[in-house]
Amino acid sequence: MNPEFQRFFDLSLDLLCVADAHGFFLRLNESWERNLGWTREELMSRPWAEFVHPDDVASTKVEYNRQQGGETVLYFENRYRARDGSYRWFAWSATPVVEPGVIYAIARDITDRRRAEEAERDRIRIDAELGERRRSEEELRRTNAAIEAILKEVGSFRQASPRVLEILARQLGWEVAELWLPDLRGETLKLSECWHVPAPAFDAFESASRECAFRKGEGTVGRAWASGEPTWFLDVTGLREFARGSMAGAAALIVGVSFPIMPDRKLLGVVCLLSTTRREQDSRVLQLLSNVASQLGQFAIRKQLEEQFLQTQKMEALGRVAGGVAHDFNNLLGVISGYSELALDELPESHALRRPILEVHRAADRAASLTRQLLAFSRKQVISPRVVSLNSVVSDMEALLRRLIGESVQLLTILDPRLGSAMADPAQIEQVVMNLAVNARDAMPEGGKLTIETTNAALDEAYAHQHSGVKPGDYVLLSVSDNGCGMDEATRLRIFEPFFTTKEPGKGTGLGLATVYGVVTQAAGHVCVYSEPGVGTTFKVYFPRISSLSQPEPEFARSSAAPSGKETILLVEDDSSLLQLSAEKLRSKGYEVLTASNGKEAMVCWESRKADIRLLITDVVLPDLSGKDIADRLAASGTGPPVMYMSGYASGSIVHSGVLEPGSRFLQKPFALNDLLQMAREVLDKPG
Ligand SMILES: Nc1ncnc2c1ncn2[C@@H]1O[C@H](COP(=O)(O)OP(=O)(O)OP(=O)(O)O)[C@@H](O)[C@H]1O
Ligand SMILES: [Mg+2]
Repeated sequence: MNPEFQRFFDLSLDLLCVADAHGFFLRLNESWERNLGWTREELMSRPWAEFVHPDDVASTKVEYNRQQGGETVLYFENRYRARDGSYRWFAWSATPVVEPGVIYAIARDITDRRRAEEAERDRIRIDAELGERRRSEEELRRTNAAIEAILKEVGSFRQASPRVLEILARQLGWEVAELWLPDLRGETLKLSECWHVPAPAFDAFESASRECAFRKGEGTVGRAWASGEPTWFLDVTGLREFARGSMAGAAALIVGVSFPIMPDRKLLGVVCLLSTTRREQDSRVLQLLSNVASQLGQFAIRKQLEEQFLQTQKMEALGRVAGGVAHDFNNLLGVISGYSELALDELPESHALRRPILEVHRAADRAASLTRQLLAFSRKQVISPRVVSLNSVVSDMEALLRRLIGESVQLLTILDPRLGSAMADPAQIEQVVMNLAVNARDAMPEGGKLTIETTNAALDEAYAHQHSGVKPGDYVLLSVSDNGCGMDEATRLRIFEPFFTTKEPGKGTGLGLATVYGVVTQAAGHVCVYSEPGVGTTFKVYFPRISSLSQPEPEFARSSAAPSGKETILLVEDDSSLLQLSAEKLRSKGYEVLTASNGKEAMVCWESRKADIRLLITDVVLPDLSGKDIADRLAASGTGPPVMYMSGYASGSIVHSGVLEPGSRFLQKPFALNDLLQMAREVLDKPG
């Protein structure tokens, strides 16, 4: 080569080469060494194909052969391996030359350009993918936000559900969205709410679905219930036990997804979405639905707790008012019935005033039974809880109940023979059964079935968490069910309020369930109700279960001794008319009565007549000391007399939470004077 051209050859930044027909380089310029790091000797000692990227060898050979065949190759690209193992991109142009078998070719290093292009392609591809993902994530996020917004607005799960269904269907593009709720017994799911794109085929599908009920594990909704998770169905028409399969087919619905709403593992309902467009299982949609499920579940629980909290507060307030009124009223009733009794004692049989006074006495009795119910409701009644068998209480009442409910109502009792004992006041349990049975009868004017069931039950942490005021633990459960008219939600929320009644005036006072509520709460139990309009109602009453087989305590024996005597009695009562009335009655039967209207006076009497006093009869609440304080002070001197308490309601200072201490007797105000005499005699005669 002439030296001038030689210089250009070596100066060129491009890679210049001459190759032979056998696959070897004949000459290379210096650029090759700079570019690849090999020496020219190394590059020329081996076939060039060994330096070409394995993926590019074939295409390079094609170009090489074309050129060998006399064609001019204007442009092609391949990769060469550098000494450090990396590859450089070359763009070639080559021309056959007159000398046969010799090729002249020029390569330009285009590695940087290729890299830039690749990076750009990657960027575009990633952008596209991201965009796609962002778009669907955006959609899911919007769906979630829309549901959150609804839940902030509405007051209850029922209000929320139709709107949530519509949002899910519209935003996620499903034609039908349904909410299935468990029935009263929690055995099957029934369609409660349905949103669909307007179309006659979907109308038909909806009304046919309303006829269906699915057990756990059956159909789309039953399977989601069983699995506890969102479940995808690629072809609902093919589901073996999918009773709606053919109906779905008729509406061209094919794909389904169901998810259960199960906060704390308790089933609230199942949502089912259906679509006519085939779609593969989409994990992001499943994830979204499982979020929605937990959002709805938490919402439902929160609302339930709020509602119960308000309810409890309302009941507390009502209880205080009712208890206060009843207490004051009781004293007045005591005076009314006491003086009418005294008057009747005095009047000869034929006296014209006997009848009117008898009426006054009867009216006072009726009024007293009302105040007793109010006291029960306000949990201010004195109770004597004992170890009781719910079964024997119920079976003892069966004859009475049958008479009560009449011929048209069938009574069914299912008593669990392994039932544990309850700690409660048997008289009060009777009251509860009676009130519930009467209500059931009233709910079934055309006749029906009243079922009374007992069984052991345990209320767990989760249940206690969902129901304010419930202590987890072992209970005996008394359930009273009817298949009567049932009640709507608005009624159900108020039934335990005193004086809430839906019955016509004169038919109900609205105290039945208030009494039940008070009795059960005072016994540290729990009452709840399930009702469906037109289907029936179940009341579940839980009493604390006791593990030991303690024997029931014996009742005080009714003494037949004449209620009179000569003993000295200390009588303490701050209501002066009641004090006077009771003292008069006792004196009329021969007793000596020392009266005191407060604790201080009582202590004065005690100091002067200690040796004679055989019995203390005292009110529970007094202006200075409590009845219990007086009893304690008398006992402190070593020889305290037996005590009889009288009160309109229990006070914590004497009888802790309304539970009488053993050995003392209690007279519920208002009382008949004969009961006072009777009980005084019993206490005086009791040995020890
Ligand atoms: N088993 C039931 N089925 C349908 N509704 C019921 C049932 N039990 C109670 N209710 C509804 O609850 C209301 C309150 O009941 P509650 O027993 O407190 O009062 P009442 O029966 O109306 O009157 P009372 O019991 O004082 O005579 C009833 O008026 C009725 O609307
Ligand atoms: Mg009632």
